[in-house]
Amino acid sequence: MTRMLVTGGAGFIGANFVRHTVRHHPRYRIRVLDALTYAGDERALDPVADRIEFVRGDVCDAGLVDELVADADVVVHLAAESHVDNSLDDPSPFVRTNLLGTFTLLEAVRRHDRRLHHVSTDEVFGDLGAGSTERFTETTRYDPSSPYSATKAGSDLLVRAWVRSYGVRATLSNCANNYGPFQHIEKFIPRQVTNLLLGRPTKLYGTGENVREWTHVDDHNAAVHLILERGRIGETYLVGSGGEQTNKQVLDLVLELMDQAPGSYEHVPDRPGHDLRYAADSTKLRTELGWRPRHADLRAGLTRTIEWYRANEWWWKPDKDTTEARYRRLGR
Ligand code: NAD
Ligand code: DAU
Repeated sequence: MTRMLVTGGAGFIGANFVRHTVRHHPRYRIRVLDALTYAGDERALDPVADRIEFVRGDVCDAGLVDELVADADVVVHLAAESHVDNSLDDPSPFVRTNLLGTFTLLEAVRRHDRRLHHVSTDEVFGDLGAGSTERFTETTRYDPSSPYSATKAGSDLLVRAWVRSYGVRATLSNCANNYGPFQHIEKFIPRQVTNLLLGRPTKLYGTGENVREWTHVDDHNAAVHLILERGRIGETYLVGSGGEQTNKQVLDLVLELMDQAPGSYEHVPDRPGHDLRYAADSTKLRTELGWRPRHADLRAGLTRTIEWYRANEWWWKPDKDTTEARYRRLGR
């Protein structure tokens, strides 16, 4: 058995990653470290609870992290503050968890010479022109726009420095926007779906012309496994489905799939510094490691995701009022 520590394993991508790993990679014995912030929910791990060990704790807690890393062979690092709007409102937990947390983990990984995979975002590159056909690559210059992306960029640079200066055995991935089950309802797609399920208006920032490249969370997690198994140490791999859509297009598709008239959304004030377009060139991942998105059909993926939110009201409904109260305070 290979001992795997997953930080942030009760969050959206982390919980899907843990469930995917238990199902498809039984050689791993998994331990999850998660602080259970507002974004973490241990119940997402219920179906695999008897196959994993859950530790509630902070990735900035050096003593705890040292102990857990010493007892692991592989570490997959997902713990982070992840929502751009929250980072604009209060950057401090982002600086702490994303920078200090990654530093704390890196020091433990260095001491115990463990294999690390660092999960990051394509937002570290900033944005692309709205009408351009350019795509981010592994060598695109870092140019983050928000406190969230700046702290993720900083965490990536820490990992790269620890590889080069201390010989830490780490890989990195920078993925485009994920969607799927267990995504917090503060994020774009689940916010709109749950609004519609409750008979409330959907909310579109600014013009709605901003472009994102929606990638199903299972495709992202399959990429992480390929990188863990065959990725080259020190290398970065971009992950993206190739399916670019404006926010308006995604929202119209959600409306159609939920039997609502197209264009029925409320325009709310734009996010400050709102990145215009993300698009990741995942050629390296595809050619070197043979990755292919299995859920590239957004209509099919969204249909399943909408069904999941419809069937799992118990999971999201208790958070809805608090989440929307936070948005009201932000004017969005
Ligand atoms: P999420 O907010 O849903 O989950 C984050 C998890 O980290 C939560 O379970 C939370 O409790 C935990 N956490 C937060 N602070 C912690 C701390 N100090 N100590 C321990 N645990 C802590 O985020 P997500 O969308 O699942 O993203 C996971 C990772 O993937 C992040 O690093 C994010 O930057 C990256 N990423 C996300 C996307 C996306 O579209 N969601 C795309 C690319 C990369
Ligand atoms: O690209 C990867 C990134 O994708 C990850 O690193 C982040 O963790 C993840 O949150 C996501 O960031 P975005 O800012 O792109 O995602 P979000 O779901 O917040 O918003 C997607 C788009 O939808 C963005 O252009 C803002 C817009 N939006 C968002 C909300 C919540 C709306 O128009 N209305 C909304 O209500």
